[in-house]
Amino acid sequence: MTQKITLATLKKHKQQGQPIAMLTCYDYSTAVLLEQAGADSILVGDSLAQVVLGHKNTLSVTMDTMIALTAAVRRGAPNVFLVGDMPFLSYQVSKEQAVTNAGRFLSDAGCDAVKLEVDHRHLDVIEHISRAGIPVMAHLGYRPQAARQETKIVQTRSVQRACQLVQDCLDMIDAGASTILLECVTASAARAVAERTDLPVISCGSGPFCDGQVLVLHEVLSLPGAVGPQFAQSFGQIGSNIRDAASQYVQAVHQKHFPDDQHSYHMDNQNQQEFRKWLQAFDRTKSL
Ligand code: KIV
Repeated sequence: MTQKITLATLKKHKQQGQPIAMLTCYDYSTAVLLEQAGADSILVGDSLAQVVLGHKNTLSVTMDTMIALTAAVRRGAPNVFLVGDMPFLSYQVSKEQAVTNAGRFLSDAGCDAVKLEVDHRHLDVIEHISRAGIPVMAHLGYRPQAARQETKIVQTRSVQRACQLVQDCLDMIDAGASTILLECVTASAARAVAERTDLPVISCGSGPFCDGQVLVLHEVLSLPGAVGPQFAQSFGQIGSNIRDAASQYVQAVHQKHFPDDQHSYHMDNQNQQEFRKWLQAFDRTKSL
């Protein structure tokens, strides 16, 4: 039987130097496959706005959509450490609303933690949510929800920004964050954070020295919708496999090769004969 992966499991992995493998996922059947593949953790990212719903950015996804898809992922992957991504404006308006929305990820979707894109201005929100008993993953570095305020993708190339990041991460932990996610942070700054805490630090394009890695599944599988940042890597051509299978189906239908007898339901012979007789009589009355 597969063991449920908890925060304690992830911390043990860190202690033992065993990297944590995390992927994004947005649906039931893929979640089944990711758990079978041995993923330690799944993030239902607000990237679903782009890769599932086809929007240009992550801003338009709602709490209800996030909860419905996160619950589906949980049904498919009951044992992974499941993180739900708090969408734009679900935690920025008030601390009370932030706690209520974060709570829904646990009570309605079965998450183990929620993720928030934060900087030092959000310490009080982290504190409120974690004080309510909700484990928080603090997402620092590049924050797609704040992309309109911060144009640089890699923000820690300067010493000043790198020092600020280390300080912010440690402050997040003091405020109650139980994991950190660093997006597009320089490898040495990410390493400095990971070396200064017992809590798992996950890298999203932040180099090899963190305690785990996360990538958007569509990048890993080469599916349409993938944005293709420099740090992402494709591990399989699933997009073209899907296109090939769908195109074979289309050909089979167009050329009347599908469905055949084997893919049809039948009456037994006696019923078939009676039915035929009834049809003949029916057609005679219609032609009178
Ligand atoms: O929404 C998302 O998929 C994310 C990852 C890129 C970390 O936040």
